[in-house]
Amino acid sequence: MSRYAYVNSAFVPHRAASVHIEDRGFQFGDAVYEVWSVRDGHLLDEQGHFERLYRSLDQLDIRFERSQSAMQVTIHELLRRNRIREGLVYLQISRGVAPRDHAFPATNTPPTIVLTAKRFSFSAAGRRAEQGVRVITHEDERWDRCDIKSVNLLANVLAKQAAREEGAYEAWLVDKAGLVTEGSSTTAWIVNADGALVTRPLDNHILHGITRKTVVAVANAMSIPLIERAFTPAEAKSAREAFITSASSFVMPVVQIDDKMIGNGAPGSLSLSLRDEYLRAQ
Ligand code: PDD
Repeated sequence: MSRYAYVNSAFVPHRAASVHIEDRGFQFGDAVYEVWSVRDGHLLDEQGHFERLYRSLDQLDIRFERSQSAMQVTIHELLRRNRIREGLVYLQISRGVAPRDHAFPATNTPPTIVLTAKRFSFSAAGRRAEQGVRVITHEDERWDRCDIKSVNLLANVLAKQAAREEGAYEAWLVDKAGLVTEGSSTTAWIVNADGALVTRPLDNHILHGITRKTVVAVANAMSIPLIERAFTPAEAKSAREAFITSASSFVMPVVQIDDKMIGNGAPGSLSLSLRDEYLRAQ
């Protein structure tokens, strides 16, 4: 079966899909993106990801005229053409194509839109959750506007690669104050000795995770206390449980941080029930 992508205003075979070499996303990383999970043909946390997309565009003054409902129609058509009912959707919008110059191009430069969809097995991810994953700690070398979901991911890429080279699933980034900000592509959480969830408050140093937002709502409904404050790697290593959240990993238990096993080395019960409840809430 042919796989399709969507570029600007056309569905094109995935292997032939391309953007111009002077696209600002390619030249400068001058672009934003979003990722949705698809289950049973539905986009998970659909609205939240759209809201963050339009906020990121607004923060960077990228003038994107297409409405959310138009984009929803396009995404569902892409899923239909690719016959995907379980998978991931990736959307990237750049400031468009223009002769290379750091400053913004003319305001009538149309943004470039790229949409792709791929199959992804959530049952395989579920099996991983039953084992839990390892994370390493790594210096946070990113800029001061991590709240914008831009494609400038070099520091994230280097941190994730460092994790992979150590056989770990994720890297937890540590800022200059010695506090964990978030994972290279996930939100970081711990469970303290009292059974409360601890995660960093929303500021410019982390991406405002959409999965985080739903997990907060799920935790409230389950009457699980939540403390929004930063924590150190040392505190995380002696936490009762640890886990990460993202659109593609949902709630994923962490069983080891650097060389330290978390709890008894098995996924925490609260992490696993939050994963179940998160999926049930969708
Ligand atoms: N990553 N923090 C960072 C740096 C991220 O890149 C992501 C998402 C998250 C979690 O956000 P959300 O719950 O909205 O997915 C936190 C996506 C999945 C990615 O880059 O592929």
